Amino acid sequence: MTNLNTLLEGKGHNVWSVHPDDTVLDAIKVLAEKDIGALIVIEDGKPVGIFSERDYARSVYLKGKSSPETLVRDVMASPVICVRPDQSVNECMTLMTEKRIRHLPVMDDDELVGMVSIGDLVKSVIAEQQFTIEQLEHYIHGYPRFPAAPKTDC
Ligand SMILES: NC(=O)c1ccc[n+]([C@@H]2O[C@H](COP(=O)([O-])OP(=O)(O)OC[C@H]3O[C@@H](n4cnc5c(N)ncnc54)[C@H](O)[C@@H]3O)[C@@H](O)[C@H]2O)c1
Repeated sequence: MTNLNTLLEGKGHNVWSVHPDDTVLDAIKVLAEKDIGALIVIEDGKPVGIFSERDYARSVYLKGKSSPETLVRDVMASPVICVRPDQSVNECMTLMTEKRIRHLPVMDDDELVGMVSIGDLVKSVIAEQQFTIEQLEHYIHGYPRFPAAPKTDC
């Protein structure tokens, strides 16, 4: 089973973040520019929250708050649930399902080394299943389906 080290090797270690004192308007501009669904909120070098499209929809828009006047710290999800690079894709999917979240920052001790989304995990599971299917097809087609008929003289 693939772990996050392997997944991040393919996906990259880049992390998009905001500061808790940035405005919601600044944050949603970054979400749109980068075409992503969530930002890690970093203060003094440490993740202190996650700000997602869901937080915007529920905690800002539906509450009639003003994006240029509301600070990320007032609407972010906190504390942050993080994972380690040695954890498996399956473990992370279970965690996302249990906690009903879609993004997980990856921390190697105190260092932020990446971010994974539910889409990344689903993609990884599909790739792994595809590999298994190809291996099985190779195995099946690599052998004759029926034993060869015995040779006779007549
Ligand atoms: N049909 C399905 O089964 C299914 C499942 C999952 C997602 N989706 C859809 O796919 C789309 C993409 O969803 P997603 O789950 O990949 O989320 P996403 O749009 O937030 O992420 C897109 C990519 O950007 C990366 N990313 C996101 N935030 C980042 C950050 N702050 N820093 C660095 N990288 C970051 C993710 O790791 C991912 O590789 C969404 O529209 C979602 O609804 C569909």
